Amino acid sequence: MGSSVQVKLILFIVGLYCFHGYCYGVEVEVNQTSTLFVNASQASSRAMPETLFGIFFEEINHAGSGGTWAELVSNRGFEAGGQNTPFNIDPWSIIGDQSSLIVSTENSSCFEKNKIALRMDVQCGSEGSDDCPDGGVGIYNPGFWGMNIEKGKSYKVVLYIRSLQSVNVSVSLTDSSGLNELATANIITNDVCNWTKTEVILIPKETNHTSRLQLTTTNPGVIWFDQVSVMPMDTYKGHGFRSQLVEMLIDLKPKFFRFPGGCFVEGLVLRNAFRWKETIGPWEERPGHYGDVWKYWTDDGIGYFEFLQLAEDIGALPVWVFNSGISHQEQVPTANIHPFVQDALDGIEFARGESNSTWGSIRAKMGHPKPFDLKYVAIGNEDCKLKYYHENYLQFYDAIKLAYPDIQIISNCDGSPNEPLDHPADLYDFHIYTHASKLFDINWFDKTPRNGPKVFVSEYAVRGEDAGQGSLLAALGEAGFLVGIEKNSDIVSMVSYAPLFVNTNDRSWMPDAIVFNSFEQYGTPSYWMQHFFIESSGAALLNSTLQTNLKSLVTSAIAWNNDGSSFLRIKVVNIGSNPVNLTISIEGLEENSISLSSTGSIRTELTSGDRMDENSFLEPRKVIPVRSAIDEVDKNMVLTISPFSFTSLDLAIKKLEDQSN
Ligand code: AHR
Repeated sequence: MGSSVQVKLILFIVGLYCFHGYCYGVEVEVNQTSTLFVNASQASSRAMPETLFGIFFEEINHAGSGGTWAELVSNRGFEAGGQNTPFNIDPWSIIGDQSSLIVSTENSSCFEKNKIALRMDVQCGSEGSDDCPDGGVGIYNPGFWGMNIEKGKSYKVVLYIRSLQSVNVSVSLTDSSGLNELATANIITNDVCNWTKTEVILIPKETNHTSRLQLTTTNPGVIWFDQVSVMPMDTYKGHGFRSQLVEMLIDLKPKFFRFPGGCFVEGLVLRNAFRWKETIGPWEERPGHYGDVWKYWTDDGIGYFEFLQLAEDIGALPVWVFNSGISHQEQVPTANIHPFVQDALDGIEFARGESNSTWGSIRAKMGHPKPFDLKYVAIGNEDCKLKYYHENYLQFYDAIKLAYPDIQIISNCDGSPNEPLDHPADLYDFHIYTHASKLFDINWFDKTPRNGPKVFVSEYAVRGEDAGQGSLLAALGEAGFLVGIEKNSDIVSMVSYAPLFVNTNDRSWMPDAIVFNSFEQYGTPSYWMQHFFIESSGAALLNSTLQTNLKSLVTSAIAWNNDGSSFLRIKVVNIGSNPVNLTISIEGLEENSISLSSTGSIRTELTSGDRMDENSFLEPRKVIPVRSAIDEVDKNMVLTISPFSFTSLDLAIKKLEDQSN
């Protein structure tokens, strides 16, 4: 690099490589040199929305239950089989055989909304029967594909127990066979003839990532159990979230947090939709529900309150998506929609009402007297085309605006084509899942009317063959799309990738941003790609022009600040199979007061040997951004941009009086 603009002519004979109708490096690239002109003057810049980049958390792929929510017991209240008895207690299993104990479900819990309890009739040890085996008989819960139990950490076990006799129950964490005990405590009492809450703290002597919880006894008699929980005691801020997963979210610096779905909000049928009122209050009293779209039970440990808490903990504004009276298979006609409207109003009051209001007081009792900062709500998810959506929407819209005029309301109807929405909205949802070359186009939203509501791209991702389980190519397609969003951020004001999480044992939807199992996690290239944009929310978009004949190259330039330091960030996405010599020419720096400095200037590159490369538990850092110092910076520079890469240059800006050193 130097002060003069270097121009290199490179001759490439490029083979035709076409994929999904798009040809990478297809042009016979006589000249792979491109030039980017950046005008760094403030006068030509435009501020991008403060809320531009956020995240979307859906209860899909066990993202919450068996994921971010740190509860280790699955089906802790034995409700997953439904309210009828007898029923399957999966994933609980029995230790012992039918001659030693009989396990059944009963409608006898002390909790009104979740009446099912487990009954254990222990026969062994009674008169005329054999003694119980040494390890006892009972039940065990393997959690969600095994519990992660770590040596020396504390685990709080809470359970409700009842028996008409005295009891002696061992509460143990063991390996997956049950043979190797990691920690144990005994509940010995003769005073549980009424339901009694019992707590023990277990500190394992070994680490095991596929452990299970066992409740066993060697004494005959009948014991009932209900609401059995094992919580690690080192959760994020003590709020019940798995810390490493939350930290990965915080690293994205999300400005908003859309939740809890997605289709999860709708349900295939309404009775299986997310009902916020059933997910608040003491965890023991929550009925839980079967999410029938993504086909798993959730105890709703991560409920409406916890979602709001998580948004607050990561410093993001909550965006609550509620059911519009529509599931995948049903619609509530507008004449009957009032209870749904009231439910939404109550939910808003729960989040932001005073602590003496009807619903705000429940929030306060749950430990959050201060209102949450709920400013955005979405009426439904992907419901626009349905018969009753428009009429229902208006009922919600009018009632919410009347009670909370400042709340920003998000419609499901896409207003980006050249026709205005037929209803009022502050923002509208736009979802897109497609192949890499189609998403890469930076001209999405160029033609969107500028006088209507703002666009909220609440779900986007490359899917299908281009993406696999999360490829570099997918990340590059998405990066091009986001560069286009920056360009059109006068009309697009929020954007979030989807889905956020996947438990590797339940890959219902691929790809995803963060993959985890019981104890490890890694980001896919799409996760790391988002890191290149985290400084863009609220930053100044600079006027820049790319001169190129390559369709596979896109760029943007922003000015951003961090702790009193200022930077120009130039981003370059090359989805083509050839390297590119990019000349960068920066003008408009206020000549007498600022200049570029190599001190603190950084180049970051996301690339890999093959465009289909992915991260995995074996190679979690195969495709991650690599940072390097930039030795020399100048207003005119030439960079070599790698094939299939995403590069950012953060050029430090110094005030001229600082230049003496
Ligand atoms: O992100 C996965 C799903 O895609 C969401 O639940 C839904 O909104 C969309 O169809």
